[in-house]
Amino acid sequence: MFEYIRIRCNTMRPYVIVNVAMSADGKLSTRQRRQVRISGEEDFKRVDRLKAESDAVMVGIGTVLADDPSLTVKSPYLTSQRREKGKEEHPIRVVVDSRLRISPDASVLHKGEGIRVVACSRLADDARICAIAPLATVIRAGDQQVDLAVLLDELFSMGVRQLMVEGGGTLIWSLIEGGLVDEISCFIGDLIIGGDDAPTLADGTGFIKEALFVKLRLISVEPLDQGVLLCWKVAGRST
Ligand SMILES: NC(=O)c1ccc[n+]([C@@H]2O[C@H](COP(=O)([O-])OP(=O)(O)OC[C@H]3O[C@@H](n4cnc5c(N)ncnc54)[C@H](OP(=O)(O)O)[C@@H]3O)[C@@H](O)[C@H]2O)c1
Repeated sequence: MFEYIRIRCNTMRPYVIVNVAMSADGKLSTRQRRQVRISGEEDFKRVDRLKAESDAVMVGIGTVLADDPSLTVKSPYLTSQRREKGKEEHPIRVVVDSRLRISPDASVLHKGEGIRVVACSRLADDARICAIAPLATVIRAGDQQVDLAVLLDELFSMGVRQLMVEGGGTLIWSLIEGGLVDEISCFIGDLIIGGDDAPTLADGTGFIKEALFVKLRLISVEPLDQGVLLCWKVAGRST
């Protein structure tokens, strides 16, 4: 696998890397949205390294409600390396949550040191903001759903240059539709989950017109654990 530079040259938003693990039939979890172990130890370590080198890691509220992730860097070596570089042990953890449905007890708000951001829209009421504000920086962007372009601008102004997005498929769809993704790392594991409604890499409404399809450029293909890791750069619209 060759090295390449991850940097955005002409816009003031972070370089955005989507990272997911999917089954051989393209599902991120079961149709009940129950978390599934898709990858193995080597991919787990790779994801931990990617997280440790990122300035922030983002998920949608659907993932927080389904999995209650902490989004922390797990390796003590990687956390100490971050500290040596003068950084917090963990990247900024960002939850995209229009109405602030997140529980004040959510792991992401408590486990590990570091900054948390919960992004909401104008649908979030003041009582919810008051409950979350002592635990996280609350950013309000958008009238209905969170305005992701505005949120990325805000993250950039907080010093975020590389943002890792861990899912789920609804959030990833919106980022792709908005032209806000630069790179996709996708581990494909050795199992079939099935289910019409099971989450995939990009859910949402989908594109109907071919001209809107997003084209990718293959960067690398690597056998890993019992599956394969694909890395793509987002090249832009089909036409
Ligand atoms: N295998 C993997 O790598 C992986 C990784 C992550 C997650 N997952 C799985 O994915 C599933 C969760 O995915 P999901 O699609 O249900 O949820 P999600 O993408 O994590 O979160 C989606 C939610 O975010 C909120 N949101 C706010 N603004 C948004 C915007 N502009 N665009 C899109 N969403 C916005 C919406 O809820 P509000 O309108 O209420 O704010 C929306 O329903 C779980 O089963 C989890 O296990 C798998």
